[in-house]
Amino acid sequence: MGIAGAVGAQGASKSGASKIRRSEHAALLARHRKVVPSWVGLYYDEPIELVSGKGCWVTDAEGNTYLDLFGGILTTSIGHGVDEFVEAVRAQAGRMVHSSTLYLIRPMVELAERIASLSGIPDAKVFLCNSGTEAVDAALMMCATARRSNQVLAVRNSYHGRSFSAVAVTGNRSWSPSSFSPLVVSWVHAGDAYRGIFAGRTPAELIDAAARDLEELIATTTAGDVACLIAEPIQGVGGFVVPPDGYFGALQRVLSRYGILFVSDEVQTGWGRTGEHFWGYQAHSVEPDLLTFAKGLGNGLAIGGVVGRTPVVDAIPASSISTFGGNPLAAAGALATLQYICDRDLQHHASTVGRRMRHRLEHGAAGLATVGEIRGKGLMIGVDLVVPGTTDPSPVTADAVLDAARVDGVLVGKGGLYGNVLRISPPMTLSAAEADEGVDRLLHAMHAVEQAAAPDQAAARGTGGSLGMDGGR
Ligand SMILES: Cc1ncc(COP(=O)(O)O)c(C=O)c1O
Repeated sequence: MGIAGAVGAQGASKSGASKIRRSEHAALLARHRKVVPSWVGLYYDEPIELVSGKGCWVTDAEGNTYLDLFGGILTTSIGHGVDEFVEAVRAQAGRMVHSSTLYLIRPMVELAERIASLSGIPDAKVFLCNSGTEAVDAALMMCATARRSNQVLAVRNSYHGRSFSAVAVTGNRSWSPSSFSPLVVSWVHAGDAYRGIFAGRTPAELIDAAARDLEELIATTTAGDVACLIAEPIQGVGGFVVPPDGYFGALQRVLSRYGILFVSDEVQTGWGRTGEHFWGYQAHSVEPDLLTFAKGLGNGLAIGGVVGRTPVVDAIPASSISTFGGNPLAAAGALATLQYICDRDLQHHASTVGRRMRHRLEHGAAGLATVGEIRGKGLMIGVDLVVPGTTDPSPVTADAVLDAARVDGVLVGKGGLYGNVLRISPPMTLSAAEADEGVDRLLHAMHAVEQAAAPDQAAARGTGGSLGMDGGR
C-alpha cells in the first residue's frame, strides 16, 4: 500500500482514502499477471494503477496522490487535464476520429507543416505514425531504400523500440530479446565520459577517439556503403547518458565522406525538453537527414513520426500506408500540445526549472556515497547510483529508491544498462515550487535508503557490475 498521505508535511495528500479499498492494486495485479505477457514489466514491489491526474499530480486507484516526475516515460509533456488539450481532443472526437490516410486530413497536414518548419531541416517532409518504434522502423526503411543498403550503424547502450528493426539497433541486452534482424549492424561508442572505456577523458579527447574509432569501424566491419547511423542525442532508456556537445557533428564529418545518412532519434529529446534547444541534435552541429519523434508530441495520445529531407523520405519505392498514422484525433491533440509548448515557451521553462532541480539535487545529495553522478540537460536528469567508493552500478539501490520515493509521494523513472539510473523527466509545465517539493521528496528517499543499507554496503560491494534483465525504461 502506498502511504503518500503519511508525508503530509511535504504536501502529499490522500483524497477520500478511507472510502477506497486497500486491495485495489493487488487484485488488479493478479488479473494483469494472468493475461498480460510476462515481459511487460511493472514498476515497484507493489505495482500501482494511476487513475486520474491534474497538471503534474497523479492519483492511484487506492487514493494516493503523487507528484509525477516521470511523465509516463517523458510523454505527458504538458501535464494532465490541460483545458486547451482536452478541449481540442473533445471537439475533434465529436466531429470525426478516423478516416484513414486515403483521404485528406486537415489536422494531419497542419501538424506536418508545423513539424517540418520546427525541424530545422530544409524543405522537410513528415510521415506520421503511432509510436516511436514505428517511427524508427520507418526511418530505417527510408535510409535502407535511399541507400540501397541494409547496413546500419547504431550506438552502444541505445534504445529505439520493440520491433525487429528497432531491437536490431538497440544496444542494450535487457531490451534485445532476439538477434533476428533485417539489418547488419555495427556499433558506435556512446560517448559516455563516466563509465566505460572513455571514462575520464576530456570532451575533446573523447570526441577525437570516437571519431577515429568510427573511421576504423566503417573500414573493418562494413562493406562501406552503409545506409545510416541512428543515434539518440541523449540516451533515454540508457540512463540519460549525455555525450559531449559536438560529438555527433564530429561523427557526421566521418559519415559524410561515405555518404552515410544521419538519423537523430528524438523520441525523448524532442519538443524543447533538453532546455537549451528544441531538438537534442542542435547541441551537436549536426545536420540530420531524418529525425524521429513520438512520446511528448501527443501528451499521451499515440502518435509518432519521421521528419526529414525530401529525397530520403520520398525514397520508398512502393506504396506504404499507416491506417491510424496522422489520424484526426491524434493530430488535433498533437497540434494543441505543440501550440501549448510554443506559446508558453516551455523549452525555456525546461531550462530554468531543470537547472533549479539539478542544483537542489546536487546540493542535497552531496553527502550520499551511493550517488555516482548527476547528469542531464533541461528536464532530463539522471542520477547514477553506485556501490559506494566505486563507479560500479547499483541496481539494488535504484530499485530501493524508486520504491521509497513512491512511498514519499513522488514518481521517478529508472534506466541505464544495469538499471541503476534514476530518471527525472516531469511534464515540462512543472512549477518551481513543485520542482523543489519533488526533489526534496526524492532526496528524502535517497537518504533513507542509504541509511538503511549502510550495514549491508560491504556485502553489496562487487555485486553491481552484472547485467540485470530489468534495465528500466
Ligand atoms: C529514443 C527512443 N526511440 C524509440 C522508442 C520507442 O518508442 P515507443 O515505445 O513509442 O514505441 C523509445 C521509447 O522509449 C525511445 O526512448
